[in-house]
Amino acid sequence: MKYKIAFIGAGKMAEGILSVIPGKADVIMAEKSAARARDVKRRCGVAVTGDPALAAKSARMVFLAVRPQDVDEVAAVVKPVLGPSHVLVSIVAGKTLAKLRRAFGSKARLVRVMPNLALRANAGMCAICASANAKKTDVAAVGRILGGAGRTVVLAERHFDAVTALSGSGPAYFAYMAKAMADAGKALGLPADVALLLSEQTMYGTAKFLLESAMPLEPFIDGVCTKGGTTAAGMERLAPSAFHEIVAATLAAAAERSKELA
Ligand SMILES: NC(=O)c1ccc[n+]([C@@H]2O[C@H](COP(=O)([O-])OP(=O)(O)OC[C@H]3O[C@@H](n4cnc5c(N)ncnc54)[C@H](OP(=O)(O)O)[C@@H]3O)[C@@H](O)[C@H]2O)c1
Repeated sequence: MKYKIAFIGAGKMAEGILSVIPGKADVIMAEKSAARARDVKRRCGVAVTGDPALAAKSARMVFLAVRPQDVDEVAAVVKPVLGPSHVLVSIVAGKTLAKLRRAFGSKARLVRVMPNLALRANAGMCAICASANAKKTDVAAVGRILGGAGRTVVLAERHFDAVTALSGSGPAYFAYMAKAMADAGKALGLPADVALLLSEQTMYGTAKFLLESAMPLEPFIDGVCTKGGTTAAGMERLAPSAFHEIVAATLAAAAERSKELA
């Protein structure tokens, strides 16, 4: 095999994973859009093709990185070239190992990953599970690659709808919160760009501190909320609101959609 790793679909997520693979000469990407393929080739220095079967045939580890609705079309051409030495790594939201197995056949060793967009900033969160015929070394190899783009956790597949709702879709919800904070700052008189910087850097810094200190959330919140102080005044408004219920309903809707996509 000429390449170590193939990608089918050279979109946003594929490019995020590609960015942490050291040997770009070991990678081939199959991409439907010719313009996108040319762009990725020029910027990333990888081999590209319009033929998913050719990419899969020429590498041992194959990342499936197309949108859920494109999986069947890809499977139809890729299934015949997959053999027992292939590790097929799907990052497609909602597609279960059983569904992938039906689409891609019984030969390839299947690994399923639910990543998030933050891997493009090397701060991603990826959950990993594997089919019965995958080897421990397959999971370890996928974990090593994705670990270069953030954190990973190996988890039973039954948790994947919840993972999809929380960390898979989470970047959009946190960005929505950041926008709400920035809009509120603007309403209090801050210039729009300053309000956005304050909002995003505060979100980033809070997450960084919480992860690095491993401090539990409630004592952290209590610590910021000095009695009679400004944060406490804000929290007195936030805590009794429907905020918790809205977040729970948001994740429930995303998890439900993940089940529907399966
Ligand atoms: N984005 C996220 O935050 C996120 C998070 C977790 C998981 N995921 C999963 O990651 C996967 C990729 O998402 P993405 O955001 O990277 O999507 P994307 O940017 O739309 O990339 C998908 C790429 O695949 C190409 N493609 C479609 N059919 C193809 C085929 N038959 N052969 C080769 N290439 C083909 C598309 O080309 P065209 O545009 O020309 O069709 C597109 O360039 C999805 O399944 C999604 O569920 C995404």
